[in-house]
Amino acid sequence: MRHYCQSPSVFYTHNFFVIGQQSESGSRPWSGNRVDRETVMSNVKQITKDEAYDTVPPGDFAAMMEVDRYNKRSTAFDKIISATHDHFWDPVDPRYIDFSEPFDLENEMIVSPDMVPELNLPCFQALPEKEKVRFANETARWFMSSILHGEQGALNLSASLCHILRDPGAQEYAANQAREEARHVTAFGRYVKARWGKPLPVGETLSGLLSEMVHAQEVYKKIVGMQLLVEGLAMGVFATLYNNSRDPLLVKLCQLAMTDEAFHHKFGKIWADRTIPKLDQEERDLIEDWAASCFQTLLFNLVNPEQKKALYADFGLDWQQVQAEMLDAVTDEDRREEMKDATNVFRVLVKTLLKAGIITERTKPFYAVYVDMEELNNEDDRMVGDDIAEQGISFLKTVNFGNKKAGVQAAAE
Ligand SMILES: [Fe+2]
Ligand SMILES: [Fe+2]
Repeated sequence: MRHYCQSPSVFYTHNFFVIGQQSESGSRPWSGNRVDRETVMSNVKQITKDEAYDTVPPGDFAAMMEVDRYNKRSTAFDKIISATHDHFWDPVDPRYIDFSEPFDLENEMIVSPDMVPELNLPCFQALPEKEKVRFANETARWFMSSILHGEQGALNLSASLCHILRDPGAQEYAANQAREEARHVTAFGRYVKARWGKPLPVGETLSGLLSEMVHAQEVYKKIVGMQLLVEGLAMGVFATLYNNSRDPLLVKLCQLAMTDEAFHHKFGKIWADRTIPKLDQEERDLIEDWAASCFQTLLFNLVNPEQKKALYADFGLDWQQVQAEMLDAVTDEDRREEMKDATNVFRVLVKTLLKAGIITERTKPFYAVYVDMEELNNEDDRMVGDDIAEQGISFLKTVNFGNKKAGVQAAAE
């Protein structure tokens, strides 16, 4: 059993980019319609504690047509499947959101300067005011492009769950999520197009992490990685943008996306409730290690200056210079201070893992470097953004079920 010491550098165990490449090019034990189930399963450690999450290899379509399977449908997801009608929205219908709303990119920052830590560094303070606005808006472009790539990852991941989950109810949930992620790809794609023309390329870290999750065959990797961590991160980022963006169109978009994401996060929570209490020590360690290494990748690399090197180059700055100034400016103590804010995205992630039972005494010291674990433990189960999502659903009900005039009125508020 691996113990976690307080120094994050000792903890570092995975390079997701390498893992992502390996899964893409690794040999596959099936070809055509023939699947060597033994080989597939021997390479993959599935941890199935509840029948609703039983799996088949991704190429084993024959298993889907076994006649006894159809009647073995879990009802665990029925509520969140039915709720989808309440929070339906359509990104190409201006009754829900209108992407023609203008914004003065040249003179106004889309996000509050608090969300752009570089603006406090000496190399950025030397820039003319207009360049600072342009940098803040290019940073917003980078955020929104990362979200768009993340939404594409969520779409492919939920579609991949349909291929491996055996239970028809779990499949229906996953297909429903895939449909909602597809509308997020449309919506965030339209937002980026409206403000900047096209998105920025994905950073290596995010690309590696998303690839690893999409290609993984283990349900626990997909659900812990995507439904708990990336969806939790999305809820935190959307809540932060909802509260800090100066572009009303982005505020609206984040709220609409949150009406869906809150349910995706619930799917992860149902899995955790039905799985975590039944794990043996070895399985628990495996899941905790996976979760902690995903967290660490997100924490240290997603906002790492190296991931934004093309952006800095556009302002005549070298990413290594930015990194050096950032290392001087941001200490562990600063990160800990920032995490006291309930909407801090990484605090949301730690709370998600803690409430799901994926942090134990063994891994607690690692997270405690950044977060007051006792304080988190005493908080209720509500997640940041739940209130924003609920208000969004009330608005959607007026459009979906109320008279259309009332809906248009609410949309304009
Ligand atoms: Fe999404
Ligand atoms: Fe999602």
